[in-house]
Amino acid sequence: MIVLGIETSCDETAAAVVERRPDGSGRVLADVILSQISDHAAFGGVVPEIAARAHVEALDGVVAAAMREAEIGFGGLDAVAATAGPGLIGGVIVGLTMAKAIALAADKPLVAVNHLEGHALTARLTDGLAFPYLLLLVSGGHTQFLAVEGVGRYRRLGTTIDDALGEAFDKAAKLLGLPYPGGPAIEAAARRGDGHRFALPRPLAGKPGADFSLSGLKTALRLAAEAIAPLAEKDVDDLAASFQAAVVDIVRDRAAHAMGMFALAAHPQASEDAGSADPAQRMGNLLPRLRRDERSGGILVIAGGVAANQAIRAALAEETAEHGFRLIAPPARLCADNGVMIAWAGAERLALGLTDSLDAPARARWPLTDLGAGEAAA
Ligand code: KG4
Ligand code: ZN
Repeated sequence: MIVLGIETSCDETAAAVVERRPDGSGRVLADVILSQISDHAAFGGVVPEIAARAHVEALDGVVAAAMREAEIGFGGLDAVAATAGPGLIGGVIVGLTMAKAIALAADKPLVAVNHLEGHALTARLTDGLAFPYLLLLVSGGHTQFLAVEGVGRYRRLGTTIDDALGEAFDKAAKLLGLPYPGGPAIEAAARRGDGHRFALPRPLAGKPGADFSLSGLKTALRLAAEAIAPLAEKDVDDLAASFQAAVVDIVRDRAAHAMGMFALAAHPQASEDAGSADPAQRMGNLLPRLRRDERSGGILVIAGGVAANQAIRAALAEETAEHGFRLIAPPARLCADNGVMIAWAGAERLALGLTDSLDAPARARWPLTDLGAGEAAA
């Protein structure tokens, strides 16, 4: 099955062609990404109006380039997939409308893909994973732990109660006078800095559950910076390093809890001898035991732009190993927004007969836990 995928939900205009074989393995035939970062950099963030207009201007050429790279015509496709949400609505409409036009003209089925499902299923293409696995999705707009149980079947174990992780990196960078996007800029400055110089908080660390809270950390960073302003270059590096060290600790702690929750769901009998009626308490009792228990073995996948961060990857590699889990991190190009993940999610849905009608709506909000139609597949 060969599927064209179109992604226009944020600041990348992307198109890709992917083949999914009957055995569930896949192959990328074309992968074209046009980043708008330079269009938005002057504004310190993505400007929705500029993004939508840039998608209109670029998408024709990006789709044509992908089809050329794949060396097929529209007639050779089995379906056309596009991000139908969640995202910046102007951009989503541009990509989805283009996909509908191609589907109509070439008489192919349309697959309206949830952008988050694209991130969630990528590891099945890159690493041939079977369900279920645990996913940490961390991008500019999303921060969540999901149990991925099948195509269309997701259980959210935790999310952020304020800022997304990528958003926190972007805001921290802005505050320190570093360029957009903030993640790579903070990571580079942190490499030169002293992460112990400023004692920043680790909100929710040690608390039950797998939720995140990042706004208190952002405020603490601002106060620390104001206290020593004006900032010398060394101060910026030390603040960036201290911020990243806090984020790394937070992600580690939350991942430990999420792995416990995931393992517990897979082995409910393990909770019975954990000795407390209170679920939070029970989790606390269980965690050290699950750590030693090979039954907790599972897989943690990281996805989203923040997954490119080497310090976070290294910490998660250690933390997963301690819990008998394996960390899977797709290549950075496939962690950030791209067309391959949309084409692949489209192919996975097509394989289950899950296609959409030409009146499928574009959605600004579309939680993964609302997909409904999906089914488990090995
Ligand atoms: O997934 P993505 O490309 O776009 C969406 O938000 O959907 O993620 C972009 C986010 C930005 O907030 C950016 O600052 C962050 O990912 N990011 C990073 C790194 N590279 C990108 N955050 C931390 N460290 C990085 N190396
Ligand atoms: Zn994304």
